[in-house]
Amino acid sequence: MIKVGIIGAGRIGKVHMTSISTRVKDAVIKTVADPFLNEETIAFAKSMGVEHTTKDYHEIINDPEIDAVLICSSTDTHSPISIEAIKAGKHVFCEKPIDHDVARIKEVMEALKGTGLKYQVGFNRRFDHNFEALQKAVADGKVGKPEIIKITSRDPEPPSPEYVKVSGGMFLDMTIHDFDMVRYLAGCDAEEIYVQSAVLVDPAIGQAGDVDTALITLKMANGALAMIDNSRKAVYGYDQRAEVFGSKGMVQTANDTESTMVFSGDQGIVAEKPLYFFLERYMESFSREVRLFVKAIEEDTDTPLGVMDGLKPVLMGIAAKKSVEEHRPVKLSEIKF
Ligand SMILES: NC(=O)c1ccc[n+]([C@@H]2O[C@H](COP(=O)([O-])OP(=O)(O)OC[C@H]3O[C@@H](n4cnc5c(N)ncnc54)[C@H](O)[C@@H]3O)[C@@H](O)[C@H]2O)c1
Repeated sequence: MIKVGIIGAGRIGKVHMTSISTRVKDAVIKTVADPFLNEETIAFAKSMGVEHTTKDYHEIINDPEIDAVLICSSTDTHSPISIEAIKAGKHVFCEKPIDHDVARIKEVMEALKGTGLKYQVGFNRRFDHNFEALQKAVADGKVGKPEIIKITSRDPEPPSPEYVKVSGGMFLDMTIHDFDMVRYLAGCDAEEIYVQSAVLVDPAIGQAGDVDTALITLKMANGALAMIDNSRKAVYGYDQRAEVFGSKGMVQTANDTESTMVFSGDQGIVAEKPLYFFLERYMESFSREVRLFVKAIEEDTDTPLGVMDGLKPVLMGIAAKKSVEEHRPVKLSEIKF
């Protein structure tokens, strides 16, 4: 049994608490830490069987009984807490992104060198049943040589302007999942990125210095062309689809729904909306990624997504920002790391 500590008890911290306590049989949560711990969060943690809660994450880092930490705190804390945890001999599961700053991701890499510790980044969508089936079909050669990859990724509601200000912007906060997905589906890195973007959802997002709508085109190293479309607000819910078109055919996925019921009446035909947001749509993927992290610790194998897989989408996010600023296609080779 692997004992874990969870650092950060906000939205994603609670997702991992729920997932581990109900769906990950080889791990148990000993401690949850968050400086803004309140009675509601303490009660939530207790209801998930968590033994101990604290406002100071050092209690997790310094606890010899704890084998691994899940870093679920705000993005700016990910790399410093990763380094502290590694120095204390803990395996680390870090939510995306590791950092917005490439130099700080390199510091995490340095800290890991020679330790034998496991490090995994939380790109959970790779473990979604739909996207995994798509990737397998491509890897098995079903579509032949991939030529066009299309990813649609639209949120049901925009974040608050306060969140936007600290998020690093849409490309490093939201699209970063799609950058990971395009690498996963193509089976290679991107070479060039071009972005058209706009503020069409909420002017406050523009005032906070960000965009909320984007079309991103990419040239992949295997020659395929890819396109990602993002919106911070789709009125019909969380729209998460992908398609790979190749020399022998095409594979695509649809959104998950609560049921497949379709109502047919004299005004038309109505199906269910997509599952509301990441909690509903991706719960099983959050469990699968942590089960694989725990397995890597138990069996002393590589984690499915290491620091390098955490770094590449950050480089793509930086290239996307540069493309917006300079109104031109940006080669990944221009981004220093
Ligand atoms: N994989 C995914 O799909 C996914 C989804 C949501 C968020 N995330 C990532 O998870 C991170 C948190 O996002 P969120 O939506 O849960 O935000 P949130 O604001 O709901 O929660 C963050 C929590 O971290 C706590 N925190 C801040 N500093 C801390 C510290 N030093 N020690 C312990 N706790 C600290 C805050 O008090 C807060 O409760 C972000 O980096 C985000 O990118 C990933």
